[in-house]
Formats: sequence, C-alpha cells, structure tokens
Amino acid sequence: MSDRLIIFDTTLRDGEQSPGATLTSSEKLETARQLAKLGVDVMEAGFPAASPGDLMAVQMIAREVKGVTIAALARTNEHDVTKAWEGVRDAESARIHTFIATSPVHMKYKLRKSPDEVVEAARAAVTLAKRFVDDVEFSAEDATRSEWDFLCRIVAVAIEAGATTINLPDTVGYTTPEEYARLIKHIRANVPGAEDIVLSVHCHNDLGMATANTLSAIDAGARQAEVTVNGIGERAGNTSLEEVVMALHTRKDFFGGLVPRVDTKQIVPTSKLVSHLTGILVQPNKAIVGANAFAHEAGIHQDGMLKNRDTYEIMTPQSVGLEMSRLVLGKHSGRAGFTARLNELGFDGIPKDKINELYQRFIELSDRKKTVTNADIIAIIEEDAQPKDDLYVLSGWRANSGNDGRAEAWVKVLIEGVDREASANGNGQIDALFKAIDKLIPGGCSLESFHIDAVTPGEDAQGEVSVRVRCGEHVYNGRGVATDIVEASVRAYMKALNRGTVVAEVTA
Ligand code: KIV
Ligand code: ZN
Repeated sequence: MSDRLIIFDTTLRDGEQSPGATLTSSEKLETARQLAKLGVDVMEAGFPAASPGDLMAVQMIAREVKGVTIAALARTNEHDVTKAWEGVRDAESARIHTFIATSPVHMKYKLRKSPDEVVEAARAAVTLAKRFVDDVEFSAEDATRSEWDFLCRIVAVAIEAGATTINLPDTVGYTTPEEYARLIKHIRANVPGAEDIVLSVHCHNDLGMATANTLSAIDAGARQAEVTVNGIGERAGNTSLEEVVMALHTRKDFFGGLVPRVDTKQIVPTSKLVSHLTGILVQPNKAIVGANAFAHEAGIHQDGMLKNRDTYEIMTPQSVGLEMSRLVLGKHSGRAGFTARLNELGFDGIPKDKINELYQRFIELSDRKKTVTNADIIAIIEEDAQPKDDLYVLSGWRANSGNDGRAEAWVKVLIEGVDREASANGNGQIDALFKAIDKLIPGGCSLESFHIDAVTPGEDAQGEVSVRVRCGEHVYNGRGVATDIVEASVRAYMKALNRGTVVAEVTA
C-alpha cells in the first residue's frame, strides 16, 4: 500500500455546485492558481459537458496552471468523455474522471438502466477515456448505498478497462466511519487488480460525518481524499480539505505519518479567497478556518494559554497561515515597505503598475484608518482581483436618512459608456440605494440575504458586506469592502448584479 496520500480538490466542481456559488471564468482561474499554491495534487476544474462556460474555464485552467494534475468530470457517455478531454488536453498532467450511479435506487429511478447496462456504460466510458489519457478515474456514484457484490463487479470492469483510480463516493452523506472502512477493505480484498490502483474517497456531510468518514477510509487503506476548501458543496457540503489535512498533520502518530504535501500555511489565505469569491461565509466555529477556531474566551482557558499554549491549542494559528500580526505599515512606510509586505503575504510577482494602483488604495485607506493590518491589505487585493469587465459601474452615490427611518438616495451608474442617474426613497439608506440601483438595472432581482462583518477589530475597521441576490431561478453573491458600510453595501450589491450578467452570458 502506498504511503502517499493524494489530495484531490473538487472546490471548482462539486464545491461550485453549492447554491449561489457560481464563479466566473476569471474567478475560477484565480482560485485554481491559489489551489496550486496550496499544493493539492489533483484539482477537478469542472464539468465541461455542463456548459460552454464550464468547458472554457477548464481549458483556461489546464493551459495556465502548472505543477498539479487537472481533472475534468464526465458522465459515462461519449459526448461527456470527449468534452472532458477537450477541457484538459493541454494540461501539463491531465485526468478524465468518469462516473455512473451504482445504487439500486439511482439505477432504477434516475438512470432507468439495468445493472448490466450500467456496467457496460462504465466499461465503454473508461475504455474511451483511456484512448485519450492514461490517468483515468472511475466513480461509482452512491457507492455507499450500492450492493457490495455489484460494486465489486463494476470496479473490476473499470480496472480491467484501464481505470487507475477508483472512487467510492458517499454521495448522500449516509455512511458511518466504521462501515466505510469496511467497504474500502472489502473492495481491496475482493476485486482483482485493486491492489494496483488508487482507492479514493469522496464524502458529503449530510450527517456531519464527512471528515470522520474520510479519515476512517484513509486509515483502512484509501489513498486519495476528495475534498473542498471550507467544505463547500452540494447540500451540507463535501469533506473539508483543511480538516483532513490538519488532522493528518496533527495526528501523525495515529495515521502513521501519512502527511499530504499541502503547504498548510496557505490554508487560511485559500479559505478566505474561496469564501470571498463564492460569497459563502465560513461559520465562526468552523474547525481550522473559522474566526473563533483559535480564540480563547473562558477565563480558565485564557489562564492556561498564558502559562503554556499547549494546554488548549493542538496546532498553532501560524501553522495554518492565520495572520496574527498587527500593523507595521502606516502611510509613512512608503512604497518599498508596502511591496515588501505584499511579498511577505505571498503576493509576489505583482507587476509594478499594479503595485502602484494597490499602493494608492492603501494610502487612501491609511488616511481613513489609524492602523492598517494585513487583513486590510488582503481585502484590498481581493477586491481588486474581482472581474473588471463589469457591465454596470457605479460612478457616484449619495444617501441621507433621519431618525424616522426614512431615507432618500441618489445613484449614478455607467451603463455602456453612458452615465444614468436615479433616485429613490427607502427604509434606511441601504434600502433606498438598492431601490435606486434597481431602477437603472432592471431584471427582477431581489435581495435574499445581507450580511455585514468587520475585516479587523476596532472602531475604524473596514466593513465587509456580503449580499445574495435572486434573479429568477438563479442566485448570485457579491461582496464589498470599505471603511464606510454604506459604500461597502452598494459595492456588494453592484457586484452581485454584475455577476448575474457575466454568468448569464457565459452559460448562454
Ligand atoms: O458525490 C458524488 O457522488 C460525486 C461524484 C460525481 C464523484 O460528486
Ligand atoms: Zn460529490
């Protein structure tokens, strides 16, 4: 059995299937670059047969992101497998991942296929994929609710056809750690050729057991873990990358030193980027990356921590890249100090003219804020990284309100080179501004959720606003950061509306 664990990240495929998480191609590319920096072994870049936009994003990632295997998903049919190959063919290292459901309920009601037909579809898809590329993964969807004898049969056929990785997904988050471990051992012991391929696990978190199930399967011999950053994904999400990686690091003693090659210091920056781009917030008590994951509130805990950190901390915040240090930079630090800090934060290789632009924003911020922290600098960079091809650009706004709650607002929006203005009344400044914007950007969109947070502690903290907007059947997220929360709200709302436009164009 190999002593190497492969981290297969599916943030851009299964993760992107989370409601409202749709990313534009440039956001996918930015995420892919960060995942490569994090050091995942395989990244599933998308499902090319799903839409032309998906195919384009996978191709872009395959061409531009190096040092990692790029995988594309395909159902077991000729069209999907061919599209998947079109997506990844230019990658330095490419994989086709094909899947079909194997549980009685899926075969009967979803696929309307007999078990024999399902086996033949798997054989044909793997055989075709193998003509394109050597690295082929086969997944038996809903494996944990499938009959074990049938699973052994289909896995044997996929291996015979050339699959090099076999994945046994817990598609609906149904299994338990002990049962999943037994399944892994059963397949390993009963399928000819299983000792020569990589067994993979892919869990969903419907019963909150995704990480436990994944770790248990690894302990039983699985050597690929399919995960997403922040555990995002369908319904309750997928196994979270950071939990599996840090469990393997922290409990080397238990897992026999099976440590992935991931650079753990990139975990928090990656988590922040994914949360920022998808608009899916991380719950404060989320393991590893939640805001409270390293916070100690109770007096007894604080006392213990002051005496010796090992009393209540099993890993250090620094080991996951949690930036603790406060400002060393002020507006007098100069461009060189600012550039050095960017490098320290991992943003190296930024072109000079871009640094000048970012520096101007930093100076504007330090005029308004006494202390500029690393979190503030990261927020500036992430805001800047948002797509610049917005159809609607906010060029001005004004709002005022009184103690009766009534407010009036005016906005100016640049639409296709023409400045248009509108005014509206509302229940508070933000409501009035959103209503004025709606007059200029019709589309029947409505605000579904609004969340405000502070980037850093302190009275002069930058406000970070996340909004979720529903336009018909689709949901779009937007984020804005500014020292003025009204400004942050307007930016977030505009981002969400623009995202709706870009995504609608790409998928059309
Ligand atoms: O959950 C699942 O079964 C999947 C497969 C497509 C691998 O995402
Ligand atoms: Zn899945």
